[in-house]
Amino acid sequence: MWAYRVGHQPPPGRFAYVDGRYVRHGAAGVHVEDRGLQFADSIYEVIAVSSAKLVDATRHFDRLERSLREIGMTMPVSCASLTVILCETARRNRLNEGLLYLQITRGAAPRDHAAPLDIPPTLIVTAKRADEVTMETRHELGVAIVTTPDIRWARCDIKSTALLPNVMAKTEARRQGAYEAWFVDDEGLITEGSSTNAWIVNDSGTPITRSLRDNILPGVTRAVLLQALSDAGLAVEERGFSLEEAYGAQEAFITSSTGGAIPVVQINGRAIGKGRVGHVSKQMHALYRELSLKDSEG
Ligand code: PDD
Repeated sequence: MWAYRVGHQPPPGRFAYVDGRYVRHGAAGVHVEDRGLQFADSIYEVIAVSSAKLVDATRHFDRLERSLREIGMTMPVSCASLTVILCETARRNRLNEGLLYLQITRGAAPRDHAAPLDIPPTLIVTAKRADEVTMETRHELGVAIVTTPDIRWARCDIKSTALLPNVMAKTEARRQGAYEAWFVDDEGLITEGSSTNAWIVNDSGTPITRSLRDNILPGVTRAVLLQALSDAGLAVEERGFSLEEAYGAQEAFITSSTGGAIPVVQINGRAIGKGRVGHVSKQMHALYRELSLKDSEG
């Protein structure tokens, strides 16, 4: 009840999964001393659902397992059980197109920074319907980006829910009328977006994106697109690029499970390329869709 106040009621018929039970979304909750709540001691994944099927589930599970391992946790259930839980949450929410949010916290215990080793983890799944019209508009018109210093930690490869710098960056972007914020590191290179990976396209039409060695999230969409590019025999560069290079790029785009490849037409108020959605960005989205839909299950 606490998550939704008057004027912000969840639509009827929405359900969440919490620790073995499917409960009404508005009544779902965790313990007040859950470590996810108190310390952001938790890992998450956002998995797209398309035609009622999970998109790229195996890649998300692999990353989830890795993130958990990096913070000293293991998968609380098998991948097969997780698939059942995710699909059942989608089914109960009548979700054909949208997103599943999955969070695993270390569990609930009396507050102490040192993590107890013997508590059961908390497993949460929620579902969100896609706003397909808004998403289509983003793909048709492109989006604007603003940049902000990257003040995050040195383990951005872990998909942790400690997202305050990302929250602040995206909120500031929205305040400035932009869709996304790109983080810039101490060397003036773009790292990634607050919830997306960042790409530019050079004069020869080659997409460029930062290397995974340089403290970014290993995006599933990024990985699928790299695979699709390789399958198609198309060139790609995995390296850092500066804000200046981005200003002079032919095109730019962002990738995430939420939107695939979304074209960027403006950075800090400056038009990128012709200031319109370019054909490479469109091609990247098509390539991503084609390959990811092959790898969907449910
Ligand atoms: N964000 N970089 C960051 C910092 C992200 O949070 C995300 C995903 C990505 C793209 O990863 P993927 O392609 O696996 O979705 C890159 C999710 C969607 C979110 O936080 O809502």
